[in-house]
Amino acid sequence: MTDSPATQPRLTGATVLVTGGAGFVGSAIARRLAAPDVGARVVALDNLRRHGSELNVPLLAAAGVEFIHGDVRSADDLALGGRAIDLIVECAAEPSVLAGYGGGSRYMVESNLGGVANCLELAREQGAKMLFLSTSRVYPVAQVNALAVRETETRFALVEQPGVAGASAEGIAEGFALAGVRTLYGATKLAGELLVAEYAAYDVESVVTRFGVISGPGQMGKVDQGVFALWMARHVFGGELQYQGWGGAGKQVRDVMHIDDACDLLLAQLAQWPAVVGRTWNAGGGRVNSLSLLETTALCTEISGTRRGASSDPETHPSDVRVYITDQRALSAALAWTPRRSPRQVLGDLHTWMTANETMLAPVFRP
Ligand SMILES: NC(=O)c1ccc[n+]([C@@H]2O[C@H](COP(=O)([O-])OP(=O)(O)OC[C@H]3O[C@@H](n4cnc5c(N)ncnc54)[C@H](O)[C@@H]3O)[C@@H](O)[C@H]2O)c1
Repeated sequence: MTDSPATQPRLTGATVLVTGGAGFVGSAIARRLAAPDVGARVVALDNLRRHGSELNVPLLAAAGVEFIHGDVRSADDLALGGRAIDLIVECAAEPSVLAGYGGGSRYMVESNLGGVANCLELAREQGAKMLFLSTSRVYPVAQVNALAVRETETRFALVEQPGVAGASAEGIAEGFALAGVRTLYGATKLAGELLVAEYAAYDVESVVTRFGVISGPGQMGKVDQGVFALWMARHVFGGELQYQGWGGAGKQVRDVMHIDDACDLLLAQLAQWPAVVGRTWNAGGGRVNSLSLLETTALCTEISGTRRGASSDPETHPSDVRVYITDQRALSAALAWTPRRSPRQVLGDLHTWMTANETMLAPVFRP
């Protein structure tokens, strides 16, 4: 009998810092790390800039996670009053793809890039490891939009991409082009990746994961980030649906990874550290877990029992990509891991969470 690969690390006695620890991903992974089966002592640091993150603070406390109101731009805040740490899960970011378009890019650069620099210095001082959450948005907009697609009744579908490195009908792999313009958000994250790679020379062991769209309960979705949560919220709380860009027909496509799959993946990386350390990986729902906005509306209608009309704006924003699907076969092979939850489960779980917490979530989602 062969042993199956470990899916959970045992971190009893270890202290983990989760930056952005009151955010969507940060609060979910912080709670998983603190659960008895993993057993870490977890400190979540967040400046609560994201509207709705404050609602996660009581959930952290209930899970035994210590919360610190602090800012990754401040090395003093990150010193955590002298606590020793063994691992940093870097989830603090301004994650908006639209940030900087109307001016005001300083906060993003200082948080997303300055924050990583501060975390890496802390990791170096403490001999801590790091999981860095990067993004599919590191791939340049023009190159992603140059991929060949087939238009169906409900979506743009990727086809085979002969001669394009790192691209196929399965999606975009780690070897895809990186030269080009990618939004300031993507640029700060790619620059963060470069810093992470450099700190390997200072003995900071890290894993970089470029996530596609992650969604599920706990996501305070808004127009510029968290589209699946926003879409379900419009069905539960009201507000306008709009198909923006790509002709305004709602055929743009993303793959989606359930937040529980994202947490499972991060834990599997920790459990199988030698298989992933020092590398950059793509992770997402993959082709089988992809859907267009039009298809998302149909699923939201079916799950919520509420039909909402959608307006249309054919103008495409320069930051927008037509289709993004993650090819994560390399990571799946390295960890013997694959996402288990479907888009239907993502949207169903969002609906359950929103309807069960309607009063609490109304200030975030009510238009
Ligand atoms: N959610 C996704 O679909 C997705 C996809 C790819 C990558 N990511 C990455 O995952 C990470 C977490 O994203 P998320 O979806 O949880 O976003 P989020 O906005 O829910 O969480 C980020 C948290 O960071 C906090 N924060 C922002 N600036 C800070 C600062 N200067 N100091 C301390 N805290 C600060 C915010 O208050 C927020 O709680 C980010 O690095 C993001 O780039 C997310």
